[in-house]
Amino acid sequence: MTSFWSYWIIGLTSLFLVGISWILLANRRRDETQTDQTTGHAHDGIEEYDNPLPAWWFYLFVITIVWSIAYLIVYPGMGNYAGLIGWTQEKQHAGEVSAAEQRYGELRSRYLAMPVEEIAQDPAVRKMGMRIFGNNCAQCHGADGKGRFGFPNLTDDDWLYGDSPDAIKTSVTQGRRAAMPAWGIFWGTGVSLR
Ligand code: HEC
Repeated sequence: MTSFWSYWIIGLTSLFLVGISWILLANRRRDETQTDQTTGHAHDGIEEYDNPLPAWWFYLFVITIVWSIAYLIVYPGMGNYAGLIGWTQEKQHAGEVSAAEQRYGELRSRYLAMPVEEIAQDPAVRKMGMRIFGNNCAQCHGADGKGRFGFPNLTDDDWLYGDSPDAIKTSVTQGRRAAMPAWGIFWGTGVSLR
């Protein structure tokens, strides 16, 4: 980000924080006594009491403002300022990927080395496949894989792109023309799902 836009964001964010603090404090009344006094305007016979904001409500606002300032010091948000702890989404993603790699890497390379016909017979893999399907595919193809309007049935013998292991692998990893996403790209760690 160029320094102009960085200062632009810092300026607007600070102005906004000062602005809401000012609105909050400028409208604050200290006398906690309830009155029968109304603000004076009536709408369809409905009037508005002129009482101070309850203290818990006022302090909730104060807490959110203090919280946002602390947040903007610790995390990035103020233009190009990186934040105290140096958090970035790239680092977080890389951390999650390497944790998954440690947890599943060995298992995955074992199955990647096996031919599809063989894996398809393995009861443990079928169970895993069912859970992976439930999490990633069922929203389109249905929990039972039978599809619905616009989403093909994967349990019948009618295939759009072929039923060979290679054709199905291509469907899953590269995606297909309609709304079938390419799942291979989600393994963006240099490890390709061949
Ligand atoms: C966003 C919705 C969506 C999700 C999620 C999705 N699919 Fe699909 N899938 C489709 C659509 C739509 C098609 C048909 C593509 C076409 O007609 O070009 C398709 C086609 C397919 C095909 C080819 C079917 C044939 O007849 O050749 C296979 C195999 C497949 N999907 C498997 C999966 C698997 C496995 C997953 C989960 C990893 C998955 N799909 C997730 C929408 C989805």
